[in-house]
Amino acid sequence: MAKQKIVQNPAIIPPYQQEFYSRLYESKRLTKLFDHQWLLNLLTFGYSQKLADACAAEVKPRQQVLQLGATFGTQLGQLASKIGVYGSLDVVDVSLTQLRYIRLKHRFAYPFMNFINRDATAPFSGKYDVIICYMLLHELPFPAKSKLINQILSNLAPEGKAVFIDYNNAVWWHPLKWLVKMFNRLYQPFAERMWQTEIKDYVSNRRSYEWHKTTYFGKMYQKVVITRKGSLY
Ligand SMILES: C[S@@+](CC[C@H](N)C(=O)[O-])C[C@H]1O[C@@H](n2cnc3c(N)ncnc32)[C@H](O)[C@@H]1O
Repeated sequence: MAKQKIVQNPAIIPPYQQEFYSRLYESKRLTKLFDHQWLLNLLTFGYSQKLADACAAEVKPRQQVLQLGATFGTQLGQLASKIGVYGSLDVVDVSLTQLRYIRLKHRFAYPFMNFINRDATAPFSGKYDVIICYMLLHELPFPAKSKLINQILSNLAPEGKAVFIDYNNAVWWHPLKWLVKMFNRLYQPFAERMWQTEIKDYVSNRRSYEWHKTTYFGKMYQKVVITRKGSLY
């Protein structure tokens, strides 16, 4: 079984993260505060749990799975429980603070989890059955979004699939649409791009893939599952 360690030299935190997110992700106190599933459910009208369920539904026991970006709450644990001890779950995060936190949280319950400190947009080797990008894409500026999506697709095993969970353009009458828009403009400047551009539009050879998109909560959130055309999924 692979060792649970944080590998490589500390990764360089990208400028967008330093500018907009490091106050949260480099703070142990705030990380602890937000790391409660009930709080995440409260802030998302219960959709945090529904999205974690929708994500876990995409993996099977024994698979080799990669998740890009650590998350708060129970999402990673739920995923690891589904994969089980005969599979593996690699979690990549650019922040050592986040990686150390999730390692402490999960290392005893899920010894098949590996924690890798690097920038997910940089090229990497290895093929995975499932690669998950969970609420990460909206944090990245445009060129990084495109790099990340294409990188993910190039690291899929022949029968593999990519799973994206993120914001989507909610229906116009959604009671929270404008509140979310205001919040994004203040704190998440690259998130609105998720409203304007489909994940598909970032992919150069998109015709080689099957796309399956599901939306949640008046289209506020999306799950996009991508497989190669002709694969057995
Ligand atoms: C995946 S999102 C999770 C959002 C929210 N915290 C949640 O739980 O739903 C945030 C994580 O992604 C990481 N991250 C951001 N940009 C990254 C990058 N380019 N490569 C790897 N990890 C990145 C951050 O350090 C952070 O831990």
